[in-house]
Amino acid sequence: MPKLFLEQALSKKITAEDVSFRTKMLEIASGLDDVIAMGRGDPDFHTPKHIVDAAIKAIQDNQHHYTHPAGLIELREAIADMLKRDNNLNYRAEEIIVTAGAQEAIMLCMLALVNADDEVLITSPRFTTYDTAVQMCGGKAVPVPTYEKDDFALMPAEIEARISKKTKVLVLVSPNNPTGAVTPPTVIKEIAELAKRHNLIVISDEIYDKLIYEGSEHLSIASLPDMKERTITLNGFSKSYAMTGWRIGYLAAPEAFIRMLTEPRHTLSINSNTPAQFAALAALTGPQNVITDMLAAYAERRTFMMQAMDEMGLSYGHPGGAFYLYTNISNTGLSAEAFCETLLREGRVLLFPGSMFGDEIDSYVRMSYLQPLERIKEAMKRMATVIDKHRVSA
Ligand SMILES: Cc1ncc(COP(=O)(O)O)c(C=O)c1O
Repeated sequence: MPKLFLEQALSKKITAEDVSFRTKMLEIASGLDDVIAMGRGDPDFHTPKHIVDAAIKAIQDNQHHYTHPAGLIELREAIADMLKRDNNLNYRAEEIIVTAGAQEAIMLCMLALVNADDEVLITSPRFTTYDTAVQMCGGKAVPVPTYEKDDFALMPAEIEARISKKTKVLVLVSPNNPTGAVTPPTVIKEIAELAKRHNLIVISDEIYDKLIYEGSEHLSIASLPDMKERTITLNGFSKSYAMTGWRIGYLAAPEAFIRMLTEPRHTLSINSNTPAQFAALAALTGPQNVITDMLAAYAERRTFMMQAMDEMGLSYGHPGGAFYLYTNISNTGLSAEAFCETLLREGRVLLFPGSMFGDEIDSYVRMSYLQPLERIKEAMKRMATVIDKHRVSA
């Protein structure tokens, strides 16, 4: 019998992920000085001090044992209170599972819902973890395209056109990564009707819901009539409280479903890191101006970036939320991948092409404004210089 080497022994759940472009970019960047990273999804702000202090206190108080697999009851109660106050969502503590970031909640949802060949619709361009999670569960991710002309809002007709007999779940990500698009409340209501008409389950990823700019409005789909019973609301602390490394997220759904997920959740990681759960509790019960202060800084950077794009003659979808600008670079004469590589080599600014977010059109780049304003100004200056040079020679 031939020997099975590990890579040959991989199960069908694990398929090769093409990360070669990202790897190539990071390798180029590592050989350059003073690179400005404008592609990250991790806030440049540090976690507020009172949140960090709560974790330190928890450790010193010996709060470092296992918790209930669904999370500390006080934390789940605080999440339920916040969801009621901020999102008009009616969940009880028993309807919430605290997870290792929203990321683990995504995997848990797919394990819970996806059978072989089930189809899962997802707003696209997209956070491609969804593709991997669906495929690892034997299902098929079906992208629902969004377009710059609609500011990348998800359109009900585009969803409806992709519904088949195999469609089971619709993933709604608003505000969206990588586009920053906020699907307007009127459209969310239409999507809710569509979900009921076609008997779809909705996973509503609301991880950026605290980062909404003037003129846009977030509506949680599970707050609409008869939607709680068919929705899983997914959220976390990474983006709103600058807590990416703490790994605390959660999912909320009716209790009977949550009860069935407690054992699989226990199997994955027993419970979320205990001191980090105390930190998350402090985030919810402490001053909320930490969010509004960070949001004010993001808003200023966002305005600057949009002006810079206008001056460079680059179009984008109006970003109603999150901290991303999804920019169309096609009039530079370069493809998005070539643009990113050229900008890195010649301008020492690192960003990533839309292809890394499942975009089939190689004309967009995701820019994030997670650098101090002065660094962003410098990055935009460098980008303008690179574009001028290539437009002339194009
Ligand atoms: C849309 C979306 N969902 C979920 C996540 C995962 O976040 P977490 O840090 O809570 O695992 C991200 C992270 O970038 C995201 O963009």
